[in-house]
Amino acid sequence: MSAPDQKTAGGPLASILALPNDHPKKTVFMALAVCLSCSVIVASAAVGLRPLQVANQEAERIRNIVEVAGVRQAGQTIQEAFRNVETVMVRLADGQETDAIDPQTFSIERASKDPQMSRALTRAEDPANIKRLPDHMPVYKVRAADGSIQAIILPVHGAGLWSTLYGFLALEGDLRTVQALKFYQHAETPGLGGEVDNPNWRALWRGKVVYDEQWQPTVELVKGTVDPAMPGAQHKVDGLAGATLTARGVENLINFWLGDGGYGPFIARLRNERG
Ligand SMILES: Cc1cc2nc3c(=O)[nH]c(=O)nc-3n(C[C@H](O)[C@H](O)[C@H](O)COP(=O)(O)O)c2cc1C
Repeated sequence: MSAPDQKTAGGPLASILALPNDHPKKTVFMALAVCLSCSVIVASAAVGLRPLQVANQEAERIRNIVEVAGVRQAGQTIQEAFRNVETVMVRLADGQETDAIDPQTFSIERASKDPQMSRALTRAEDPANIKRLPDHMPVYKVRAADGSIQAIILPVHGAGLWSTLYGFLALEGDLRTVQALKFYQHAETPGLGGEVDNPNWRALWRGKVVYDEQWQPTVELVKGTVDPAMPGAQHKVDGLAGATLTARGVENLINFWLGDGGYGPFIARLRNERG
């Protein structure tokens, strides 16, 4: 048998494996084989774990809503507590509620990228720097025993310094007093802009009044500490030390979402319904 015949007898794989370990061809082959196997493992894990990730994100969303809604009784699971929260889809333009969109499958991030489900904002319309505004947003309501609104939870988002902050703003039944604010997703710097997660800072929001007498959004984050005696102190919240840019982003996004371009028409409708 000639030399070339011997080489192909076991196929190209066998011929490479038969080479000495320090042969450059074998080294390159082994490196490629390891890379390929690892990428198959990583890709399979990413695809296989996707449903679990989605389920975890959904559980996290519900946990945050239940937290700001303040509806969890002792001994209740989060799912049980969430049954006390009513989810509606709101058309932002006129504040009307619609059944045409399923809140279970709705994603704010996906809708914001989809030209069929959102519109581009001009610079003047976009103080929160979100670029595109979804046509619809989910809103969560908590009702008192007599059916009146006890709290509403509004999803809000907008640019900080490094990232878009996503959160929930819960207002009391008067539709102007803050019950809670929680950002559940952002990439601001821990210890600086990341202090939006600090429970002490979040607690400062409770009881703040987000609208003035004319129902214009009027939240202000001030440098330093709010003096309760200062005029308009009920609309002001302490800024974040060393993170004025994130604080300004928070101020802008809250005022944007409470205004005419955001939930303003929806809140006006609730006010009118209440009479
Ligand atoms: C590495 C690094 C990370 C920073 N992260 C933030 C941040 O997350 N949010 C923020 O507002 N400022 C951040 N800053 C500071 C801003 O550049 C800016 O100085 C600050 O917002 C001004 O706030 P002050 O006037 O309260 O000091 C960061 C600065 C550095 C060097």
